[in-house]
Amino acid sequence: MIYVILGTQWGDEGKAKVIDYFAKDFDYVARFQGGANAGHTVYVDKKKFVFHLVPSGILNPNVTVIIGNGVVIDLEEFLKELEAVGCEVDARGRVFLSSRAHVVMPYHKLLDRAKESRVGQAIGTTGRGIGPAYVDKADRTGIRVCDLVYLSREQLTKKVEAAYELKQYLLKNYYGMSEIPTAEAIVDQLCGLADRIRPFVADTERILQEAHKNRRNILFEGAQGSLLDVDFGTYPYVTSSSTISGGSLTGSGVGAIDTASVIGITKAYCTRVGNGPFPTEQENETGEFLRKQGNEFGATTGRKRRCGWFDLVATRYSIGVNGVTEIFLTKLDVLDGMETIRVCKNYRIRGKETDYLPSVIEDYEDIEPVYHEMPGWKEKTFGIRNFHLLPANARKYVEYLELQLGRKISYISTGFEREDVIVR
Ligand code: GDP
Ligand code: IMO
Ligand code: MG
Repeated sequence: MIYVILGTQWGDEGKAKVIDYFAKDFDYVARFQGGANAGHTVYVDKKKFVFHLVPSGILNPNVTVIIGNGVVIDLEEFLKELEAVGCEVDARGRVFLSSRAHVVMPYHKLLDRAKESRVGQAIGTTGRGIGPAYVDKADRTGIRVCDLVYLSREQLTKKVEAAYELKQYLLKNYYGMSEIPTAEAIVDQLCGLADRIRPFVADTERILQEAHKNRRNILFEGAQGSLLDVDFGTYPYVTSSSTISGGSLTGSGVGAIDTASVIGITKAYCTRVGNGPFPTEQENETGEFLRKQGNEFGATTGRKRRCGWFDLVATRYSIGVNGVTEIFLTKLDVLDGMETIRVCKNYRIRGKETDYLPSVIEDYEDIEPVYHEMPGWKEKTFGIRNFHLLPANARKYVEYLELQLGRKISYISTGFEREDVIVR
């Protein structure tokens, strides 16, 4: 059994809760892209855990977790999270980090923040150095985990100096930074971390290939969301990795998989953090209601999440690019108490109606969402675990989305605890 679990919107769909929910049936949970820009929240027995790099399956003691080659790794963050989780579960022998994963270097974070601070250039990134780390990967000047643990200090120094030379120039002369670390200081820091990560480093693609051959159950944990994908998202307001299902192959090296279920995690409304188009955004009382009731504040940066109505155009598009097989609808309870609920069916762009997401970013400024309106429900759905116990209008809302999306909504989440799930 192979599941790819990913977000169909702009991230924060509740992926971690769902991954933790499924983890008991899996042998491996693997991250395949992104880095510490992710903020994945899991509640178990009222205790909150937020993971940025360590896969959310770690809380299940029978799961082996993998950080694949497609991830860009912040080593300090990785060690910090392991330490934090170590108090709760035994992580020894069940955490593996790809030797081929790229390392987020201190200069990546400096460049990320410096670029963001330039007027008119802000994407609203998480400031975790993600973009610059992937730039170096594509530019073939990245430092990988294997460089840290297998090279001599001299060899590593040479690589870091070569990678850092131009960036030092940029940071000082273009961005006007006066205090930047020397290459030597960076190498010192890396060497200190190398010994601590060595026990976790492995050729993780082989572990996954072997697991697949032996018919073990593998779950791929997507980070971010499909509309933040570097190819298919609302470019340039995206992250720098392949967040869609295809990324799970290149980002893990598992090989071709023929039987994957692709579970699209879809929030019952939409949110977005950072800049960029959001056609159904509600900068009004409705948006405030959703933010408050849904506690929509970033798990990584604490920023207010922008909130708005469900967008069928965007979600259908995500279903297509991911090959979503079924949907896990989350946070239905957040809509409790709304008088009416709107769902965006189509976009009207300069008078012309379309059911497809535009590629040109400039078109988004002209989008007028075409809404379908439905009555809300007064009753609480929070914590309900049986579809038939939902208020009639909540059931109708789910059935409407299902019909419009053309995929079964097989699961519905009605609360943040692991067991607050309706299976249909
Ligand atoms: P992720 O990045 O997709 O893993 O999602 P985040 O952890 O960033 O944000 C989702 C938030 O919603 C977390 O605080 C979860 O605990 C919470 N959550 C998940 N599912 C539900 C749900 O069905 N209802 C409510 N009320 N909260 C939920
Ligand atoms: P999870 O996994 C929501 C957004 C940032 C910014 C853009 C680029 O928790 O769903 P980056 O730092 O990646 O270069 O920022 O992407 N972003 C996220 N938004 N959830 C996330 O992760 C995100 N990771 C990045 O806000 O708009
Ligand atoms: Mg998140």
